Amino acid sequence: MKKLTVLSIVAATLLLVGCNESSTGAEAKASTEKKVEAPAAEAKTEATEAKKCGEGKCGANKKSAATEAKEAATTAVEKTKEAVVEKATEVKDAVAATATAAVDKTKAAASAVAEKATEAVAAATGPDGKALFAKCAGCHGADGKTKALGKSGIIAGQPAADLETKINGYKAGTLNTAGMGALMKGQVASYSDEDIKAVATYISGL
Ligand code: HEC
Repeated sequence: MKKLTVLSIVAATLLLVGCNESSTGAEAKASTEKKVEAPAAEAKTEATEAKKCGEGKCGANKKSAATEAKEAATTAVEKTKEAVVEKATEVKDAVAATATAAVDKTKAAASAVAEKATEAVAAATGPDGKALFAKCAGCHGADGKTKALGKSGIIAGQPAADLETKINGYKAGTLNTAGMGALMKGQVASYSDEDIKAVATYISGL
């Protein structure tokens, strides 16, 4: 009875070990099958892809189409960039030209205004031509249209520059048209350059 018990324990142990071994074997088999199946599945996928490639639907074609699209987009972007730079340069040049023209115009206008202002200031603060003519009127007439002492020309309306030159000539003693230069010298001797300019301008306007 004791022997039998021992034997049965041994048998049971063997049986258990055997079972375990057999289950391990099954697992090994399954994992081996998996290992073989996986590459097979991969190969199949590759084959399918290859077939699709033939029809222009494979990943590689997709990739190259994407690359082409990307390249086209890059080219388009480059072209747009160039066009924008070109247009910007044109616009810049045009704006610069317009600005220069505007600046020139403004400068011209400003200098014209400054000139007018200078004239106005001179007229307002300079010698009074009318007042300076008062003593000339006795011989030349209040309207400047009398031949002084029957000898001079009519001074009214002569160009201011000519009158200025003549009066300066009398003042310097270098002008003597009708032998009465000395008399005229006495009339204008005390007149300054500004006085002569002012009176000449006044007579010119008569
Ligand atoms: C006393 C008279 C008299 C007075 C005043 C007089 N003039 Fe004369 N003016 C003459 C005579 C005369 C002449 C001619 C002089 C000559 O022989 O060149 C003359 C000549 C001129 C001429 C040259 C005309 C020409 O076209 O040849 C001018 C200009 C002139 N006078 C301006 C003036 C001015 C300006 C004043 C006042 C500051 C003045 N005169 C005062 C008598 C006068």
